[in-house]
Amino acid sequence: MTFWTRRKALDALAHVDQSRQLRKTLSWPHLVALGIGGIIGTGIYTLTGIGAERAGPAVILAFAACGILCAFAALTYAEMATMMPAAGSAYTYTYSVLGEGLAWIIGWSLVLEYAVTCSAVAVGWSGYMVGLLESMGIHLPKELIAGPYAGGVVNLPAIVITALVTALLAKGAKESATVNIALVAIKIIALAVFVGLTVFSLVPENFTPFMPYGFVSHMDDAGHVRGVMAAAAIVFFAFFGFDAVSTSAEEVKNPGRDLTIGILGSMVISTIIYMIVAACAVGAWPFAEFAASGEPLAFILRSLNHPGAAWAIGAAAIVALPSVILVMMFGQTRVFFVMSRDGLLPRGLSDLGPDRRSPVKVTLLVGLFVALFGGFLPLATIAELSNAGTLAAFISVSVCVMVLRVTKPDMPRLFRCPAVWVVAPLAVIGCLYFLYSLPGTTLRNFAIWHVIGLVIYLGYSRRTSLLNKAV
Ligand code: ALA
Repeated sequence: MTFWTRRKALDALAHVDQSRQLRKTLSWPHLVALGIGGIIGTGIYTLTGIGAERAGPAVILAFAACGILCAFAALTYAEMATMMPAAGSAYTYTYSVLGEGLAWIIGWSLVLEYAVTCSAVAVGWSGYMVGLLESMGIHLPKELIAGPYAGGVVNLPAIVITALVTALLAKGAKESATVNIALVAIKIIALAVFVGLTVFSLVPENFTPFMPYGFVSHMDDAGHVRGVMAAAAIVFFAFFGFDAVSTSAEEVKNPGRDLTIGILGSMVISTIIYMIVAACAVGAWPFAEFAASGEPLAFILRSLNHPGAAWAIGAAAIVALPSVILVMMFGQTRVFFVMSRDGLLPRGLSDLGPDRRSPVKVTLLVGLFVALFGGFLPLATIAELSNAGTLAAFISVSVCVMVLRVTKPDMPRLFRCPAVWVVAPLAVIGCLYFLYSLPGTTLRNFAIWHVIGLVIYLGYSRRTSLLNKAV
């Protein structure tokens, strides 16, 4: 077997030294909240406008397409996570089923999904926070609220929020999950207020013409990306996050029950909320007017003469968006933790303290990485880059499920994906179609990211891999 195809045993966790195993502190309410905490965030608060600009009122169809794709992906994640309840999610499954080389590529893709998303959300959060402070008459110097790309020196609020979340994560999974439950409640209440205030203002004319730019992603004559699928490719950012639940598998008390409820429950609840919010947004106000807004939900409320509620939505975003950073950073620490435990990243990173509550070293490293990106780099196209990384991980998990159904048909499965030969292939095809619908520049950046990753793997990690030492 070459280095590229060598595999970890499916029950590799059973052979990991106790001192390197994370403690089991979480159960299903934590996991449902972790899933919703990772899903509902910047996407629904900010991208609804861009989605409507690309698709018109049919942005509702874009939301539905994302919901269906993510439901299929969630079913395959639930089967894999309950079969292999070890930290690391898609990276870990790929390592055991498809081999080390592809696992590295998926682990590297997950950095885009988790760490880079954290940076993007931290920068988004900073924008809301600076806006709120200014509305209260507090003006921070420009040098401290934007990176060099936007005429400043450093985006300090983005660094501060990252540092706070890092400190919480370093304390432990249980503490982080408990704070997350409170943040999730605030987000859901804010969206419920939005729906309550818009649902009686729906105007049928706002839904027509329903699909002014067609279905397929394309460039119009003015050079704008248009179509339902173009909207879906960006709105997809709002949907992922449920998969972060699977990275916690090692810390879950009853994996079979808790992971299934956590992954599928958070996905279904969030999709229902999104569909209702999208329909209310599009129906309550002409899409062309809120499409350009960076805060479309607040814009619509202001336009409907609810300035207080508009302010409250902004405030709720400030309080609650850090839950996305929390969950995604949690996911990233668990992926790096396992990559380090496997020897693909320096082993010292996966040392645990005596209470085994949290991989502190790796958490600090991820915090630093997220702060540097968020503090100094432009992140305009980040959402789509994160989407590309996530789609790659989804494809890999669906392929792993199918391969194991053939190679290990009798292995016990605590959750079986229903109609797997329909669901898993459709998940793969759907993800490929979403990837194809992303702008060419995003795909180019995605390729560059993986070239960098492969240089590191071929130059370092393939030699330091524990499996290399085992042969
Ligand atoms: N789904 C997460 C969000 O929308 C990444 O912020």
